[in-house]
Amino acid sequence: MSITTAHERVSDFVGSPRRMFVGGQWSDAASGKTFATPDPATGETLAHVAEGDAEDIDRAVRAARAAFDDGPWSRMTASERGRLIWKVGDLILEHADELAQLESMDNGKPYTIARAADVPLAADLFHYMAGWATKIEGNTINISVPTAPGANFHSYTLREPVGVVGQIIPWNFPLLMAAWKLGPALATGNCVILKPAEQTPLSALRLAELIAEAGFPEGVVNVVPGYGETAGARLAAHPGVDKVAFTGSTEVGRLIVQAAAGNLKKVSLELGGKSPNIVFDDADPSAVAGAANAIFFNHGQCCVAGSRLFVHQSRFDEVIEGVSDIAKSIRLGPGMDSETQMGPLVSEEQLTRVTGYLDSGRAEGATTVVGGGRYGDRGYFVEPTVLTDTRNDMKVVREEIFGPVVVAAPFSDLDEIAAQANDTEYGLGAGIWTKDISKAHALAKKIRAGTVWINCYNVFDAALPFGGYKQSGWGREMGHEVLNNYTEVKAVTAQL
Ligand code: NAI
Ligand code: MG
Repeated sequence: MSITTAHERVSDFVGSPRRMFVGGQWSDAASGKTFATPDPATGETLAHVAEGDAEDIDRAVRAARAAFDDGPWSRMTASERGRLIWKVGDLILEHADELAQLESMDNGKPYTIARAADVPLAADLFHYMAGWATKIEGNTINISVPTAPGANFHSYTLREPVGVVGQIIPWNFPLLMAAWKLGPALATGNCVILKPAEQTPLSALRLAELIAEAGFPEGVVNVVPGYGETAGARLAAHPGVDKVAFTGSTEVGRLIVQAAAGNLKKVSLELGGKSPNIVFDDADPSAVAGAANAIFFNHGQCCVAGSRLFVHQSRFDEVIEGVSDIAKSIRLGPGMDSETQMGPLVSEEQLTRVTGYLDSGRAEGATTVVGGGRYGDRGYFVEPTVLTDTRNDMKVVREEIFGPVVVAAPFSDLDEIAAQANDTEYGLGAGIWTKDISKAHALAKKIRAGTVWINCYNVFDAALPFGGYKQSGWGREMGHEVLNNYTEVKAVTAQL
């Protein structure tokens, strides 16, 4: 499809109020309410979207429950389910220009990046997970049963879907996060209620159209846009939901755990981070661009952003100068402008939050090497920022900023750096830049984080498990690890 056709489709899509997708039908919110999703480059309203709340979630749970308990979905073969999931991947690629535009307009990220990364990664996730549908296996187990001498048993395990799954996702990679959540849940045979972030509901709603087009039975996938405190909270607490999967702030992660306690639903969480990125004295010069990409990619709105940069003292000035030069050279602008390298933050709330951290860093004595404030007076842009002269007790060092802001500090030896890297309540990612492979792998082992990148950063693949140690979350997404999040194991024993 040409860009123009995609553009026309996107204009049509945002031109009329978007409805929610429940039980295979498009409907307004029970309350009749809608909310506006703004264009973060201007603050102007981009589209109006049905505002789901508790009543809509209840209806979606009934639809998912019916689809799971009685629907054709559970009677379909694994191969048939796999083919439907594969089809979603194909449809995403077919509509790649359009989805990338929608993502860029709703989230603010550059179109070029959405087109090169978010959209193909989402398609690849569905293609990867489609293959798992036919490969969900149990074991046969040789049991001894000391209490039943002489008896003969046959035991095996079945790996079955958890049932009805609530999925709550954030706004930083709206389409990709929908894919990360839906792909494995569907491959393992669950039914889903997905609640996109209120800041970025559009690509998930377009994805729901593609899912309907692929031919999924009604009620298997339901998409209910709405606010966290209403729709999200109801989904997390709902007694008819067997599992909730959440990506977002650690603060809301705790609320999800509390809400899930009522019916003790299963919980998986992908939360915040404050990931260390460590540049040794023998690092290749490409570490400079690597360190900049680690923090500035997606405007720093990455749970795994390399937001704490540690540089060996012998290279500190050189690396900070290099990263600062890159920061200065980044062209900020609306995501749909082809010259743009970094777009606005997603919302006014995030603009306020991030500039608040910049003020706090200054007040606590950090030095702003480059950047340090809002960019322009329209939209939610923040300058790429490098802070030095920080101490470990500063808020800017301890808390997730979720903007294009890196704190940098020098270090002198391996033991010291492992302790410093781990001095955080988070444990999501880490980067290591060195030519010494023994040092790299020795440090990778010492770091308490779910992902470690050596001489690279932000490398994601559907086959690689992703998730957090410590307060960065529970469970893993992607890879075959994620299948455990969405299955129950049943042990069956027969006396022969
Ligand atoms: P958030 O955690 O409030 O929002 C994420 C999702 O949770 C959204 O869909 C939201 O509607 C939903 N939600 C909010 N409150 C809820 C509740 N009580 N019950 C159920 N669902 C609820 O994140 P927010 O406020 O947009 O961003 C705040 C900070 O969170 C960011 O500055 C960043 O530090 C962190 N964050 C981390 C993300 C990650 O990928 N780990 C993604 C987004 C935000
Ligand atoms: Mg919030």
